[in-house]
Amino acid sequence: MSNSGALQLAGILGVGSYLPETVVTNDDLAARIDTSDEWISSRTGIKSRRIADADAATSDLAIAAARNALRSAGLDANDLDLIIVATCTPDHPGSFPSTAAVVQNALGASHAGAFDLGAVCAGFSYALHVGAQMVRTGAARYVLVIGAETLSRIVNWSDRNTAVLFGDGAGAAIVGPVTEGGYLGGLLGANGEGGKLLCVPAGGSREAVSLDDIDRKYIYQNGREVYRFAVSIIGEAAVQAVESVGLQSTDVDCFIPHQANIRIIEKAAERMGLPREKVFVNLDRYGNTSSASIPIALDEAVKTGAVQKGSLVVMVGFGAGLAWAANVVRWSV
Ligand code: ACO
Repeated sequence: MSNSGALQLAGILGVGSYLPETVVTNDDLAARIDTSDEWISSRTGIKSRRIADADAATSDLAIAAARNALRSAGLDANDLDLIIVATCTPDHPGSFPSTAAVVQNALGASHAGAFDLGAVCAGFSYALHVGAQMVRTGAARYVLVIGAETLSRIVNWSDRNTAVLFGDGAGAAIVGPVTEGGYLGGLLGANGEGGKLLCVPAGGSREAVSLDDIDRKYIYQNGREVYRFAVSIIGEAAVQAVESVGLQSTDVDCFIPHQANIRIIEKAAERMGLPREKVFVNLDRYGNTSSASIPIALDEAVKTGAVQKGSLVVMVGFGAGLAWAANVVRWSV
């Protein structure tokens, strides 16, 4: 990577995604734990999720999504200057080595720097904001931004409070120079005071995994409190981000929020004054795939025509941290 110092417009040139083939329905879960399709559907909107094969790592999903994004942008891996992988389920603990470096090697992206970014469910939005600034400032020409997760590895499958919510998948976007529109702006936010509301308590430097309390190596969530946070932040972040670039939230053509819960999404859309048809939802099929949820939805929105050249697209990620981020993009390809 070199820094030419030039200023330019950055945009998304191509998108891609990858979902593991195995589908686990609510009824499948209800056969194993004390839950029901009725409870899960009515509380969350989720009907099924995809689960990666036991021998698939997060990088395998990321690589497949990245290849699709490169194809969609008409670029070669050798064109890339930087690869950012947003993930909370890296191939190796502590991203040591980074999943991004694994992806770099597999793609043969010989000129690219690579690092992982940790902002959990806000990860893709954070990474897209960072990648866009790299292109804007001329520090990089083409940046591959990936959100990829194998959450099935950190879910406690006997805990009905969390097991029904999550799934595996990956999505990717190529950020590069454009001549009009593109990445108009965004925002990043955090409130670490709420860190304990949604976390993996043990297995990091704070707390070792203990055989006496093995459940602490899995996702813990205070669902009600996180729900309260999410409802207050998504619509607000979207409105702030859109207004920061001189537009109104009612100008938005396609709103792509993190896919966690349909009730949270509906409340955010209400806050923005957006009709349901302008809100992209696919959580019924994939559940909450953390950092992968927005790029998977974005890929589907482009493929189905919900996002087209000229569309004003707003993405908002939120989750553990607590952290959130928003991106405002005028689709330019
Ligand atoms: N099936 C059946 N019953 C259940 C289940 C289940 N899967 N899970 C919980 N229940 C029960 C509870 O035990 C409780 O029973 P009780 O009243 O007898 O104690 C009852 O259902 C209600 O539980 P609540 O937790 O109050 O349910 P709520 O309506 O709040 O819905 C949910 C739970 C769906 C988790 C909701 O709180 C939510 O969506 N929260 C936000 C989640 C979110 O957006 N997370 C972001 C994650 S992003 C990231 O960074 C990973």
